[in-house]
Amino acid sequence: MLGMPGAFGLWVPGAGFVLARAAGGEAEILTLAVRPPARRRGLGGALLAGALAGAVARGAAAMFLEVAAGNAAARALYAGQGFVEVGRRRRYYPDGSDALVLRRVLTGPPAGK
Ligand SMILES: CC(C)(COP(=O)(O)OP(=O)(O)OC[C@H]1O[C@@H](n2cnc3c(N)ncnc32)[C@H](O)[C@@H]1OP(=O)(O)O)[C@@H](O)C(=O)NCCC(=O)NCCS
Repeated sequence: MLGMPGAFGLWVPGAGFVLARAAGGEAEILTLAVRPPARRRGLGGALLAGALAGAVARGAAAMFLEVAAGNAAARALYAGQGFVEVGRRRRYYPDGSDALVLRRVLTGPPAGK
């Protein structure tokens, strides 16, 4: 994934990582994961904040991502960092669940603030 044009990431060995991509003035989170023993200590939020900063540094005006509708942990994390729902992809995942498309504008304050 890091070989894709515009891809970048942050990695905390043994604990978690985020991969993102910036292209054409927009960015997206490709994947974000924290190992279970390292969760609820702020690492997921720090990785996401790092990816947002990386996107701004690469000239992106907005960050997009997809999250499973039933992924309460990730949805709470993203909502807390200003992401808002802008679309829904029905039956997107192999188990039949929907994906939500979330966006955070990177110019000015986060949406809803
Ligand atoms: C989602 C994930 C990355 C969060 O990582 P984390 O290091 O635990 O996140 P943080 O400690 O920074 O949590 C930040 C906030 O997110 C929310 N959150 C995180 N885990 C939560 C949970 N299990 N239930 C409810 N809210 C949760 C909370 O608002 C939390 O703030 P708080 O701890 O002050 O209440 C982690 O649970 C994970 O790797 N999950 C599996 C992979 C995944 O779903 N990735 C996202 C795919 S889109």
